[in-house]
Amino acid sequence: MTQDEQKKAVAIAAIERVPVGRVIGVGTGSTANYFIDELAKIKHKIDGAVASSDATAKRLKSHGIDVIDLNEIDDLSVYIDGADEITRHLHMIKGGGGALTREKIVAAVAKQFICITDQTKLVNVLGNFPLPIEAIPMARSYVAREIAALGGQPALRQGFITDNGNIILDIHGLQILNPVELETTLNQITGIVTNGLFARRAADILLLGTDKGVEIIAN
Ligand code: 5RP
Repeated sequence: MTQDEQKKAVAIAAIERVPVGRVIGVGTGSTANYFIDELAKIKHKIDGAVASSDATAKRLKSHGIDVIDLNEIDDLSVYIDGADEITRHLHMIKGGGGALTREKIVAAVAKQFICITDQTKLVNVLGNFPLPIEAIPMARSYVAREIAALGGQPALRQGFITDNGNIILDIHGLQILNPVELETTLNQITGIVTNGLFARRAADILLLGTDKGVEIIAN
């Protein structure tokens, strides 16, 4: 299977886990887009979707799927999203599409996080993919210095502003042996809105596209 075929296969596999009669959380990116396109086929079975980005909201609406404000609901049974890197412990790097803050908020609310990726995303150690950090624009230089002090090499994502009006710094050169610890450390740096480590709230299930089909890895 090609990478795109694997993305489509995990999107189809995730549809089987969509709860009937509920609102679900929907992620951002090319794999999430495959999922949205599959979700459109069963849209009458759900009560709507919470979007993790403006782009996802637009795609959901284009399929006639109701987009629900997260503040209008008390709980969310499931969140389905891709990742840039994921380990067998289901720790992730996310934010390649710049939607990490809303993704982390929806993931925090959801009872279950189902990650859908092709096999290229599965790694032993996180960090080969540059770690995205969303930061307040006026804190850019300060945050960059703090990250350099931690051993990372920050690069401003050129020409990119998040849905929340902030910048992204992509951190190169990290070998993230303890993702929970680094996520906690980065959470303490003033001016960082969100870091792209999803380790404190990891995925619960990974649907991994492989050459042989969809592998299920659960925590
Ligand atoms: C967006 C994300 C995406 O989940 C991540 O970038 C994966 O995208 P794709 O499915 O296109 O590989 O975190 O902010």
